[in-house]
Amino acid sequence: MKVMIMGFGNMGKTYANSFISSRFIKPEDIHVLVRNAAKVQSANGIPLANFSAIPTAKITDFDILILAVKPQDFKSLAQTIQPFVNENQLILSVMAGVTVASLQAELKCQKIVRSMPNIPTQIGLGMTVFTASATVDRKELFIIQNLINTTGKSVYVEEEKLLNAATAISGSGPAYVFYFMNAMIKVAVELGFTESEAELLVNQTFMGSVAIQNSYSLSNQEWIAKVASKGGTTESAFKVFTQNNVEKSIAKAIFSANNRAIELGS
Ligand SMILES: NC(=O)c1ccc[n+]([C@@H]2O[C@H](COP(=O)([O-])OP(=O)(O)OC[C@H]3O[C@@H](n4cnc5c(N)ncnc54)[C@H](OP(=O)(O)O)[C@@H]3O)[C@@H](O)[C@H]2O)c1
Repeated sequence: MKVMIMGFGNMGKTYANSFISSRFIKPEDIHVLVRNAAKVQSANGIPLANFSAIPTAKITDFDILILAVKPQDFKSLAQTIQPFVNENQLILSVMAGVTVASLQAELKCQKIVRSMPNIPTQIGLGMTVFTASATVDRKELFIIQNLINTTGKSVYVEEEKLLNAATAISGSGPAYVFYFMNAMIKVAVELGFTESEAELLVNQTFMGSVAIQNSYSLSNQEWIAKVASKGGTTESAFKVFTQNNVEKSIAKAIFSANNRAIELGS
């Protein structure tokens, strides 16, 4: 299989890396469209000759075109590549907020897969939600899911609007986790730990909690009950969470992210 990645920033490099390290695609079968080929330094094992700044009719040689530029750069990229794209070529977009309809309209192409990855894709622990136009057949969808899964896990959704919800949950989610971790680290320091001790305590607590949650079939509520004994310290902390409507604040924040994703996409 031969793919062309358009845009070699964080996501473009992540995909190239993941395809190569999983041995799904050979480095020589990956070509990259960049803005300035002379500036390419790290090629992730891809031959430097495979980097180009000029789209040509050769684009039709590729089974899949991966669009990994910033959403605001899409229209100008589409103008330059559209004359060379075959209307039946399979397109995978990772661009936030660029809809299937606008990808089809700008590229005059029918087969579109639109995805929403998140930042841990960079280390193979990503979460990607994706959808596809009706013209993408089962076999093509399967191939794309296998490619996406080289960066972590994935969920296919029929309804495109769920990509906005995915942006609000798994896309922005890592930042929510870092926010919570940071708040805990600050308090740990206030309570007397050094900065590095506080980071260790909090990082290991998050890692261990997710790992144990994944290891057994107990719900989060059941795990909370296991930690929080009656009249104990955790229960005391939870009283404050409840008094301050923390759960409601989290819901409000995520709905706000969802609404912003809808706004950005329209
Ligand atoms: N990073 C994430 O974790 C993440 C998560 C979810 C979704 N996404 C989506 O992924 C896309 C890429 O994000 P990113 O973080 O990888 O951005 P990035 O690091 O800025 O990479 C974008 C790359 O595209 C290149 N580019 C722009 N216009 C081009 C053109 N016409 N031809 C060729 N290359 C072009 C840029 O080149 P220059 O360096 O010359 O500007 C840059 O290297 C975005 O649409 C974003 O919404 C990213």
